[in-house]
Amino acid sequence: MPLDKYQYMSNVWRDDIFNNKVVFCTGGAGTICSAQVRAMVHLGANACIIGRNVDKTENMAKDIATARTGSKVIGIGAVDVRKPEALAAAADRCAKELGSIDFVIAGAAGNFLAPMDQISPNAMKSVIDIDVLGSYNTVKATLPYLIESAQKHMTDGKTPPPNGTGGRIIFVSATLHYTGTPMQSHVSVAKAGVDAMAMSVAIEQGPKGITSNVIAPGPIADTEGVARLSREQDRENSAKSIPSGRYGTVKEIADATIYLFSDTGNYVNGETLVVDGGQWHTSGVG
Ligand code: HXC
Repeated sequence: MPLDKYQYMSNVWRDDIFNNKVVFCTGGAGTICSAQVRAMVHLGANACIIGRNVDKTENMAKDIATARTGSKVIGIGAVDVRKPEALAAAADRCAKELGSIDFVIAGAAGNFLAPMDQISPNAMKSVIDIDVLGSYNTVKATLPYLIESAQKHMTDGKTPPPNGTGGRIIFVSATLHYTGTPMQSHVSVAKAGVDAMAMSVAIEQGPKGITSNVIAPGPIADTEGVARLSREQDRENSAKSIPSGRYGTVKEIADATIYLFSDTGNYVNGETLVVDGGQWHTSGVG
């Protein structure tokens, strides 16, 4: 039974805006990224999601495919974003089977709560490798396809026609590093690197038609991130401390995604869209 699409995005978006486009997403079996991809599929896109766990990734791909009759959604499991060759093979397979790569979501991430003195060198390296090198590997593997898409969709070499967007990247980051966040030094360092990468890609690849932006979610209800980073009994109080008075929803991250990937985001490049109900402006600690 397909999920109601307005559970995943607002009803301001037109149903066909991503027809014949392809989104490639790492971390695509996760709660946030699967919602981003699901919304894109509802609006016409085909998709390729990448994950480490084969069953989880393939099952999620099947589930997302129910979003729209006739959509093609491939799940490629057993791909660790720390392995450049595996990502390159996945990108090539995506382009071969679906025809192109027009949008990329670099969403794979690793996290746990630990104070710096209990993080081993390997644990620190693992998180930086997944978040920073994983994002680099993702962009590296998909950039030739993204440039091709951006060029194809621009009439005058600079401006995309209506619903003709392509060549767009979203990095999924966080707000932890805007302030100091205890138990999160590893992720703060990694996400600062991801943000820096997004800006460099925007400046460097912008002239080829690429846009590269960051979505920084705050605490989003019912996600693996919240489950890993907070205790259930603390969540009600922590939600009250957020200016919006609640945790966010995956739908709100999906909406931000559609904003950046559709015509509404044409002239947004190198930016971070914080979707956190104003949380980081308070203390940065959820
Ligand atoms: C201290 C820990 C730890 C913990 C693992 N390690 N958990 N150290 N406290 N709780 C250490 C291990 O002991 C090991 O170091 C090293 O990390 C690598 O762990 P492995 O399990 O061997 O390897 P790996 O498969 O590479 O695991 C990566 C991982 C893991 C990041 C540690 O948690 C993971 O795979 N996570 C993926 C999914 C995930 O985290 N999703 C949530 C994303 S939420 P030693 O020295 O023993 O070898 C998110 C939200 C961002 O990103 C912010 C939102 C606000």
